[in-house]
Amino acid sequence: MKLKSGLTAMFCAMFGAVAFASAANAAKIGVSMPTQSLQRWNQDGSNMKAMLEKSGHDVDLQYAGDNDIPTQVNQIENMIASDCDVIVIASIDGSALTEVLKGAKDKNIPVIAYDRLIMNSDAVSYYATFDNTKVGRLQGQYIADALDLANAKEPLNIELFTGPTDDNNVNFFWGGAMEVLKPYIDKGTLVVPSGQTSKEQCATLNWNLEEAQKRMENIISSVGYGPEDTPLAAVLAQNDALANGVTNALLATGYDNTNMPVITGQDCDKPGVKNIKRGYQSMSVFKDTRTLAAQVVKMVDAIVAGQPVEVNDTTTYDNGTGVIPSFLCEPVAADKNNYQKLLVESGYYTEDEL
Ligand code: BGC
Repeated sequence: MKLKSGLTAMFCAMFGAVAFASAANAAKIGVSMPTQSLQRWNQDGSNMKAMLEKSGHDVDLQYAGDNDIPTQVNQIENMIASDCDVIVIASIDGSALTEVLKGAKDKNIPVIAYDRLIMNSDAVSYYATFDNTKVGRLQGQYIADALDLANAKEPLNIELFTGPTDDNNVNFFWGGAMEVLKPYIDKGTLVVPSGQTSKEQCATLNWNLEEAQKRMENIISSVGYGPEDTPLAAVLAQNDALANGVTNALLATGYDNTNMPVITGQDCDKPGVKNIKRGYQSMSVFKDTRTLAAQVVKMVDAIVAGQPVEVNDTTTYDNGTGVIPSFLCEPVAADKNNYQKLLVESGYYTEDEL
């Protein structure tokens, strides 16, 4: 089916959604995912493929190797060349797709940015994600509550780990966490002994677990952290992969589940939840990928049917060409007290998987 011609638009306006129900079945949807090396993107991809197929669409689902930008660009090029009707993209580097998406714009192919905003491209029609500022706020607030920072008498040590700054989400995670933590840092209630306090200094290439582990090992030896040495109260880790790397480094230094600092995470991936159960990681942020995938399928269906697309935020996400109409799903903090209800009872995982 061709969404693109003016004729189609006219037809759509004249005959409405009902006339399009069967045409919608024939739409071809490209889905470009960044990597298969992290559990969440496999889930995002397969959830979306299943739901889009259930809606009657043909799906071209591609993973860009292990976060390989040229591969992602090629795959998107092919989706454009093969006349996909809508393309859904979770970008690796939000700023690396400007050129290739000119092709989508030329062919009037709507592009939905999935989870991560695509920057500097006017080809992006919609954005669906979780409330990324809230993700950061939940992490910061968890640390503030667990350490009772409002009543802390002595300065407490913290270290900070972010994802790569070419992932636009990182800026929002950071902003949300700093809303809560920065006032305590400014007051001296929280101290960062490594001195690495800027987002850039705390960044981790490709959200790589081993990179985070190496950086934590270096910080441990330069600051002298250890269960019997310089105390470490908390580590802000922006996702579970980073938390896992940090945890490995601390375990190797002699920490265990009786004296681990407060460590945050995000995604509730299986290793993260297992570490929460073991008492190595304190919390994660649950972003139910089923909800996000379902929302994007709704967007695709509406676009294909020529109907209005549901969004709930039209102010926050400016990609450099203007604000992109967005739908923000709700993230939820998860820890040992509620993971069972959030993750097992909801059918996200079986108990055995954890
Ligand atoms: C996502 C996180 C994920 C991270 C690493 C971010 O853009 O929002 O859920 O953990 O990328 O893949």
